[in-house]
Amino acid sequence: MNPTGTTLVIGATGTTGGRTAARLTAAGHRVRAAGRRATPLPGADPVRFDWYDATTFGDALDGVDRAYLVPPIGDPDPAAVMMPFLREARAAGVRRAVLLSSSAIPEGGPAVGAVHRALPGLFEQWAVLRPSWFMQNFTGTHAHADSIRTEGLIRTAAGTGRVGFVDAEDIAAVAVRALTDDRAPNADLILTGPEALSHDDIAAIVGRVTGRPVVHHPLAYEDMRDRLAAVIPPEFAAMLAAMDRAIAEGAEDRTTDTVERLTGRPPSPFRVVAERELRAGPVPRG
Ligand SMILES: NC(=O)c1ccc[n+]([C@@H]2O[C@H](COP(=O)([O-])OP(=O)(O)OC[C@H]3O[C@@H](n4cnc5c(N)ncnc54)[C@H](OP(=O)(O)O)[C@@H]3O)[C@@H](O)[C@H]2O)c1
Repeated sequence: MNPTGTTLVIGATGTTGGRTAARLTAAGHRVRAAGRRATPLPGADPVRFDWYDATTFGDALDGVDRAYLVPPIGDPDPAAVMMPFLREARAAGVRRAVLLSSSAIPEGGPAVGAVHRALPGLFEQWAVLRPSWFMQNFTGTHAHADSIRTEGLIRTAAGTGRVGFVDAEDIAAVAVRALTDDRAPNADLILTGPEALSHDDIAAIVGRVTGRPVVHHPLAYEDMRDRLAAVIPPEFAAMLAAMDRAIAEGAEDRTTDTVERLTGRPPSPFRVVAERELRAGPVPRG
């Protein structure tokens, strides 16, 4: 891997892409920062890129040898737009691809699972990041963070199920290793924080850190699905509510050593992230 190559960061204005781009530029790597508008980021070369507009692919890929891929958000079939882009990327000289997926989506599973399955056949050097739920869902611009601020409430269909919530900074730190280490992981990596917490635990920690009481309001799967369907497409609403139900059944009650193994330091606990991001007020995305 040429250490002076350029990394295309898709989703560079978002939660993991923004942090990944910032860490890459701080370490002296060249970054092409992609978003639907060419948004200036310190030290990066901004480019307009839209998954749904193939005419934007060429400029984004010009001179790039590796890429961080945040899939199109909320698309039930991201492979339809991602596969043509990935073939073009390989032809343009991209040698390493790091895909953001989710702990809840296995290789070959729904949505981005199909892209995960195809990645090793397209790129000799690859990684699929499969983070658990982001801690930033409670500190940033996610619906949970909004309802915490406006109602002192977190609504889920996750019951008392526990989740290995992970800090987006730790995801970005792993992304940088996967993009820049001499040897690519060539594996999927399940990323968690240091402990599995229930949403009641999260509510209690946010309440202690902010000094304002927060409660977890558990909903039935159907109620969660219908609430979400008022604001997002019904198919996507059903998928998100089903992920909560899987949490209730214990699917996310685990921790892994991946962050420490790849970065050399343990992942941050939620209390530390809440103190960092909520004491100073909510942080903007990215
Ligand atoms: N939240 C969680 O707990 C969690 C857990 C596991 C996995 N995930 C996965 O994380 C992913 C989201 O990643 P994230 O949180 O880093 O991003 P994010 O904060 O949701 O931001 C989305 C990014 O994608 C860009 N984007 C949106 N539509 C685009 C389009 N049509 N073409 C090109 N870029 C587009 C946005 O940029 P512009 O708006 O500037 O175009 C933005 O930079 C999802 O796939 C989700 O499944 C989330």
